Amino acid sequence: MEYRIAIIPGDGVGDEISKEAERVLNAAADKFGFKATTEWFDWGCDRYLEKGRLMPKDGLDILKPFDAIFLGCVGDERKVPDHISLTLLLDIRKGFKQYANLRPIRLYPGVPTPIRTATPETVDFVVIRENNEGEYSGTGAFFRPDEPEGFAIQNSIFSRAGTERVMRYSFDLAEKRKAAGYKGMVTNCTKSNALNYSMVFWDKIYAEVAAEHPDIATDKALVDAMTMWMVKKPEWFDVVVASNLFGDIITDLGSMLQGGMGLAAGGNINPEREFPSMFEPIHGSAPKYQGQNVVNPLASIESVRMMLDFLGQEAAADAIGDAIKAVLAKGEVRTRDLGGSAGTREMGEAVTAALLKD
Ligand code: IPM
Ligand code: MN
Repeated sequence: MEYRIAIIPGDGVGDEISKEAERVLNAAADKFGFKATTEWFDWGCDRYLEKGRLMPKDGLDILKPFDAIFLGCVGDERKVPDHISLTLLLDIRKGFKQYANLRPIRLYPGVPTPIRTATPETVDFVVIRENNEGEYSGTGAFFRPDEPEGFAIQNSIFSRAGTERVMRYSFDLAEKRKAAGYKGMVTNCTKSNALNYSMVFWDKIYAEVAAEHPDIATDKALVDAMTMWMVKKPEWFDVVVASNLFGDIITDLGSMLQGGMGLAAGGNINPEREFPSMFEPIHGSAPKYQGQNVVNPLASIESVRMMLDFLGQEAAADAIGDAIKAVLAKGEVRTRDLGGSAGTREMGEAVTAALLKD
């Protein structure tokens, strides 16, 4: 089996973490007897300054034939305003209909977290973030922004098709998890008490799709209460479905349950496999740490695990998961965010060594 993987390291620390992701990918390929051909694309802020575009005009056509994409991290405010640089990421998510943003929240043994209720037993759920529309529709307008009567409009767009498909994905995932011993429940993260059109519609479609899955328990949490319950009782959750913005916010909180941004990974999934899916750490690009070999590459390595799982290399994916767990449980190699002094490279090498052992 051969896979073509596009690597877009992006900005800031993107290069360093992508190298560790690639190191582990190559080691897994060697060990499990498949081939992973990687191609790197220098798209991002530097390219924007040089050529006026973050990626080439036909960037999506270039990426389309790949089996999957690994994205490091984008953005460097010193060079390009964030709302411009981040279109690189958002255009790929939307252009490739990666409408399900899969963000597992899991705490591995040996990882420190500032949240007292978080233990490896209590933190084990998945957030599905709607990834193509909602509050991120990217439409709106400025009206006389410099005048006293001026205003801005930012549209939230919730289409029936867009909402149904992410609900279906979430309930299907809950079915699979239930078969594997989980609770079998989808929590609807909403705010329909205040957002009386968009979220009322969202709730209605949640209920319609829930009715197609009588064996899956339903559950509802207003997003403000959701943040409280995630800290108070993380063990309650199994699958959480959230709109684009709410999913963005609660997964940053989720990252603290799992030990910090250095460990939080995500997959931007096109379930129909009509386009490549994209895997990425959910953290930012931390430009101030660029080139210093200090950031934690585990979120990137975890993204590679998710990628291989999605591509059908489950054994390799599980082995990467086990290698990450072994390194964390041993605790000898710890990056700064985990209270140690190991570098980005040392952590990548430690996971690779654990993967290749026996
Ligand atoms: C994320 C990030 C992005 C988002 C930013 C970088 C546009 O915060 O992936 O969670 O808001 O989706
Ligand atoms: Mn975010």
